Amino acid sequence: MKEIEIISKAQVYGYDELAGNDRELIEKAKEATRNSYAPYSKFCVGAAARLADGTIVTGSNQENAAFPSGTCAERTALFYANARYPEQSVRELAVAAFNRGKFTSSPIPPCGACRQVILGVEERYGCPVRLLLYGEDGTYVVDSVKALLPLQFTGESMTE
Ligand code: THU
Repeated sequence: MKEIEIISKAQVYGYDELAGNDRELIEKAKEATRNSYAPYSKFCVGAAARLADGTIVTGSNQENAAFPSGTCAERTALFYANARYPEQSVRELAVAAFNRGKFTSSPIPPCGACRQVILGVEERYGCPVRLLLYGEDGTYVVDSVKALLPLQFTGESMTE
């Protein structure tokens, strides 16, 4: 038996420490929470993706009475970006959540399915997606979803 060590690092920024571009993307994600359709969880999530040419595409969670039929904000934004602007790589994705009358204090980490979809987007365009996970008490920043998904299943995993 041998053991491997998997280490992930994230930077944590106070809102005032963030660059203007980052704040702009976070504000778009916060705004997108208003278009969330979350009658079941009441947990309103917004995501904003910045594409290579600077276009910003937003999405929000869209729920359904058959719970698994709904989808998360991150996937809404990414699939829309890829469907509408297939030639543009996705460079950055900001996520924010509004719950019980306020934005959450802690950043909302993307769910497992969204991490896998973000990984697929990185693979599709051959470049990392920088993530900005907003919380009122701090924003987590990672340069790639790989920091949140250290063992990755990709197309390459099927070539062995
Ligand atoms: N949700 C997101 O949209 N993104 C996340 O990162 C976590 C969870 C949504 C799914 C569901 O509509 C609600 O939040 C509660 O899980």
